Amino acid sequence: MSLQDILSVVEAGSEEEALARQVNFERLPVHVAVIMDGNGRWAAQRHLPRVEGHRAGIESVREVVEGSARLGIGVLTLYAFSVENWKRPAAEVSTLMLLLKRYLRLELNTLLRNNIRFRVIGRADELSPEIRRELSVAEEKTSSNSGMLFNIALNYGGRAEIVEAVRRLISDGVRPENLDEQRFGDYLYTAGQPDPDLLIRTSGEMRVSNFLLWQIAYAEIWVTDTLWPDFRKRDLLEAILAYQKRNRRYGGINQPAVAGR
Ligand code: FPP
Repeated sequence: MSLQDILSVVEAGSEEEALARQVNFERLPVHVAVIMDGNGRWAAQRHLPRVEGHRAGIESVREVVEGSARLGIGVLTLYAFSVENWKRPAAEVSTLMLLLKRYLRLELNTLLRNNIRFRVIGRADELSPEIRRELSVAEEKTSSNSGMLFNIALNYGGRAEIVEAVRRLISDGVRPENLDEQRFGDYLYTAGQPDPDLLIRTSGEMRVSNFLLWQIAYAEIWVTDTLWPDFRKRDLLEAILAYQKRNRRYGGINQPAVAGR
């Protein structure tokens, strides 16, 4: 993927085009993770029910998935539903699941066309059989794609993921002397994937909200006041440009900014 790929999906002469031309394609973040926040506030500002914010947020999902794939991002992880989100009103939860189902049905061809591999991270086994079926179809149909990996975090909790990893390590009989950070990472949902280089959070909140707690150890965090339903390719490009200006030190000193580790 390249400048030409992203230019083919942005308007000529637009602010997005100008931003895309500033991107250094040699130093893209390999893994971008996103906490999509602010759907409820977006709806409230328009005197609409909260679910309308989620509905509008789907267009942002489409833009970011396509934009990331065309830029050449290796892995994109979107936080769609946390283990805590079950506390929301039942009608909101069921609308979120319905939107997810609809998204998968409508966007599967786009994922295939863009060579995107789709994966679920989280406790998928606690989702309804119907949703699990839709997710499996999308995972299977995109499994041989070799382009961007699109993780969707569903019924996901960072602490739960770590506890689950420890349980499996114990049940596999891994001895303490054989355990190191690399091995531990192999027991997480993201086994084999690079850690996020860039964590984006929308709607101005300065929290990590139990998202990829282990994996974001060295991620650069970029927070925007933009509410998720207003997030567009322009915002993604701004985040990437901000990332490329950062000097990543990993606890050391004065290393030049690098993509990945
Ligand atoms: C946070 O906004 C957003 C969510 C809990 C869900 C995000 C889900 C979607 C965008 C739709 C489904 C996703 C996919 C990938 C098809 P909030 O409700 O917490 O907003 P608030 O903080 O303003 O109340």
